Amino acid sequence: MNRILILDFGSQYTQLIARRVRELKVYCEIHPYTFDLDNVKAFHPAGIILSGGPASVLDQDAYRIDPRLYDLEVPVLGICYGLQLTAKLLGGSVQKADKREYGQAVIELLDTDDLFQGFNIGDQLKVWMSHGDRLASLPKDFLTIARSKNSPIAACKNKKGTIFGLQFHPEVVHTPQGKAILSNFILNICKAKPDWTLSSFMDHQMQAIKKRVGDQHVILGLSGGVDSSVTAFLLHRALGDQLTLIFINNGLLRFHEEHKVIELFKKEKQMRLRYVDASRRFLSALQGVTDPEKKRKIIGRLFIEVFEEEAQKIPNAAFLAQGTLYPDVIESVSFKGPSATIKSHHNVGGLPEKMNLQLIEPLRELFKDEVRMLGKELGVADEFIDRQPFPGPGLAVRVLGEITPDRLRMLREADHVVVSEMKDAGFYKKVWQSFAVLLPVKTVGVMGDSRTYEHVIAIRAVQSEDGMTADWADLPHELLRKISNRVINEVCGVNRVVYDISSKPPSTIEWE
Ligand code: XMP
Repeated sequence: MNRILILDFGSQYTQLIARRVRELKVYCEIHPYTFDLDNVKAFHPAGIILSGGPASVLDQDAYRIDPRLYDLEVPVLGICYGLQLTAKLLGGSVQKADKREYGQAVIELLDTDDLFQGFNIGDQLKVWMSHGDRLASLPKDFLTIARSKNSPIAACKNKKGTIFGLQFHPEVVHTPQGKAILSNFILNICKAKPDWTLSSFMDHQMQAIKKRVGDQHVILGLSGGVDSSVTAFLLHRALGDQLTLIFINNGLLRFHEEHKVIELFKKEKQMRLRYVDASRRFLSALQGVTDPEKKRKIIGRLFIEVFEEEAQKIPNAAFLAQGTLYPDVIESVSFKGPSATIKSHHNVGGLPEKMNLQLIEPLRELFKDEVRMLGKELGVADEFIDRQPFPGPGLAVRVLGEITPDRLRMLREADHVVVSEMKDAGFYKKVWQSFAVLLPVKTVGVMGDSRTYEHVIAIRAVQSEDGMTADWADLPHELLRKISNRVINEVCGVNRVVYDISSKPPSTIEWE
């Protein structure tokens, strides 16, 4: 069939391979390397990619596959570990490299018939290497098609042109021509047709969900963020009233957030939504607490308590849906089993087992930008799709020190100014996050003729790719001036605004 099978040996880049295949508009699935030969045959792949992996094929208990896979008359591409395993299984040899090769390298092309079609013999390509072992000799009837200084066999193929191996990673951006190489494999060698689109993904998921759920019921914890919103829309389209959304107001939401969520999901889209106002319960548990970790623990514990109470009121619930995305999958090692993939900060960890619920994660193959595109296709309002990330513990980690209703009010109002002005100036979508933080200090000011002694708001705006590292955003002074003026004039209790100019690391994005 017109799809690619990726067998995962635990590389941190496996998800990127899938993404590249999707970018070529070809459907693919990742399965653990333990996916047996019968499963592979039943999958009817147009091609098979063997991923990289952290282990060494020289280890005693190295992950292996059934070598009959190479006899299926289906093109195979091994990447890094996948190459080494292929070589080993087919009679070549692998040795420890003198030194680990990690980072940028240059390969020279020796053959441009198929995998390197479109390039010229002798071309030098920049590639990304990450390996400790390397090929010492090729299996019978194999040729070297590229070499590098440290890897005399940087790429190879069998003479028939059906089995290929790359020592480097074509899927990462540090291999600039990687996409062209993968395209040669998938479109030319496997002859897969580029007909996959997000709407075909959607149809596929909807059918799979319907089949799995049958006439049972699904619950979903709605946060109002992009991931859970898009999951809700997708599931609602597939299941209608067999889906109940549980939306908990923990008292730490942003300005008018609960109204917006209720408006969209319940009133406009007529989804079954249980709105639980647990704000008093959360705020009284947080009274007097200033330690950030204690805040997080209290919020996490209470969230599970409240969610469980509500979920129990839905007697026939058999499934718990989560908006887990690919990057949330903790350690990409998918063969560790689904338990390794529960979003750690999703706050409902442990719940599925305790309540005997099965997990449904329809977005787990997608990246954030793909989820946004899917959301658009499903008709999710732009306001929800374009949302910046927001931490699970909500404003609790942005009201530094004690959380009181009045301090929350100041932060909410100030944050609303920041967000509105960022949107008006066209900067909201250009940064990773932009928000206000209420500091636990008061400063002296002067308003009219009198001295004031009031609170400080810090503004945090950062650029980032994935939240792991970040740099403070170089916002126009005019915009900062406007935000500052509005916050000081409009938010009662605030007389000073500062801008945070720290990057991550060593600072974090959130202040707590
Ligand atoms: P830091 O502050 O660690 O944040 O640089 C990185 C990203 O994670 C978000 N964040 C959280 N998200 N629960 C969450 O769901 C949390 O406890 C939490 N703490 C930080 C933060 O907003 C940023 O996008």
